Amino acid sequence: MSAKQVSLTGIKPTGTPHVGNWLGAIVPALELAKRPDVVSAYFIADYHALTTVRDASQMRQLTHEVAATWLAFGLDPENTLFYRQSDLPEVFELSWVLACMTPKGFMNKAHAYKAARDTNVEKGEDEDAGVNMGLYTYPVLMAADILIVDADLVPVGKDQVQHVEIARDIAGRINHAFGEGTLKLPKAELQDQSAVVPGVDGRKMSKSYDNTLPCFLTAKKLRRSVMRIVTDSTPPEAPKDPDDSLIFDIHKALLSPEETEALAARYRGGISWGEAKQALYEALEARLAEPRERYEQWIRDPDAIEDLLASGAVRARELAGPVMDRVRSAVGGGRP
Ligand code: ADP
Ligand code: TRP
Repeated sequence: MSAKQVSLTGIKPTGTPHVGNWLGAIVPALELAKRPDVVSAYFIADYHALTTVRDASQMRQLTHEVAATWLAFGLDPENTLFYRQSDLPEVFELSWVLACMTPKGFMNKAHAYKAARDTNVEKGEDEDAGVNMGLYTYPVLMAADILIVDADLVPVGKDQVQHVEIARDIAGRINHAFGEGTLKLPKAELQDQSAVVPGVDGRKMSKSYDNTLPCFLTAKKLRRSVMRIVTDSTPPEAPKDPDDSLIFDIHKALLSPEETEALAARYRGGISWGEAKQALYEALEARLAEPRERYEQWIRDPDAIEDLLASGAVRARELAGPVMDRVRSAVGGGRP
C-alpha cells in the first residue's frame, strides 16, 4: 500500500451494540477514516471473543450484528479495510512467534487477566479459576492483530493503551533479536472518552449493567425504552436543572455545544419530563432511523456480509502475507 499510515481498530463482537458504543466508539473511529493521510482498517476480533463465546451460531450472529452495525453507521468497505480476524491465518502464526518473545510477567500484569484473578482472590477461590489461556495471552493475540498489518496507529480508549504498549514492546524485542525493521512499532492514539453516555439507570451505559439503549430497536420500542426512564416528581411546569437530569445527560451526547445550550434553556424555562423524554426520543430517532433501515437490510442478507468480509480478507492478506514472510524468514522458519 502507499506511504499512508495504517490505523487499525479492532472490534470485539461480544453483544448487541448500544448508543454508548455508537457515540463513544463508532462515530470517532469512522471520523478517522476521513483523514487523507491514513488508511483505516477495521476488523472484527472474533477469536478474541472466543475466550467466552461457546456457541458457533452465536459467534456468527454476533459477528454479523457488529459488521451490520458498522456498515449501517457509514463504514465504507471500498475506502477502508474491513475484515474478520479469523479469516487471516497469518495472525495466528505471528501470534505464536510473538508468544515466544513475550515474558510471562507481561501477561501476569495485563489488566483483563489481573481483574479476573483479583475477583477470584476476593471470592476466596483459586486465583486462576475460570481463566483460560486465551484470556491469559489475550494481549499477545492483540499484538499480532496490530503487527501483522504493519499498523502505525491504534486508536483506543484508556483501557486498551496498555495492550498497545505491550505490542510495541514485543515488536521491539523481535527487532532486537532478529533484526531492526522486522516489525513496525505501533503507537496508541488515545481517544477522547470524556463523553461517556449514561445508561437508563444513570450509570455508564454498558451491556454488563443491563442499562443500555440498543441502537436498532424499532422506533416504537425505542420510544418505550426512553419513556420508561425514571424521573422525579417535579411538577411539569417547574424549572428543571439540566445538570441534574439523566434525560438531559443522555440527550446532550447527541448535540453540538450550541444545541446543548438551547436544550438547557428549555429545561430551565420549565419542561415536563414527558416532553423532555419525547425530545430525547425524537433526537435519537432522527439520527437512528436511516442507519436502522440499512442495518436491517444487512442483517437480512448475511451472505452479502460474508462476501464483503471475504473480499476484505483478501485485501488484508495482501498486507499480512509479506509481514509474515519477513518474520518467518527473520526467525529461520519455513523454506529459505
Ligand atoms: P460495554 O461497556 O457495553 O461492554 P465495551 O466495553 O464493549 O462496551 O466497549 C466498546 C467500545 O464502546 C469502547 O470503545 C468503549 O469505550 C465504548 N463505550 C462503551 N460504553 C460507552 C459509553 N457508555 N459511553 C461512551 N463510550 C462507550
Ligand atoms: N482488545 C480490544 C477491546 O477489547 C479489541 C481488539 C482486539 C483490538 N485486537 C485489537 C483493538 C487490535 C485494537 C487493535 O476492545
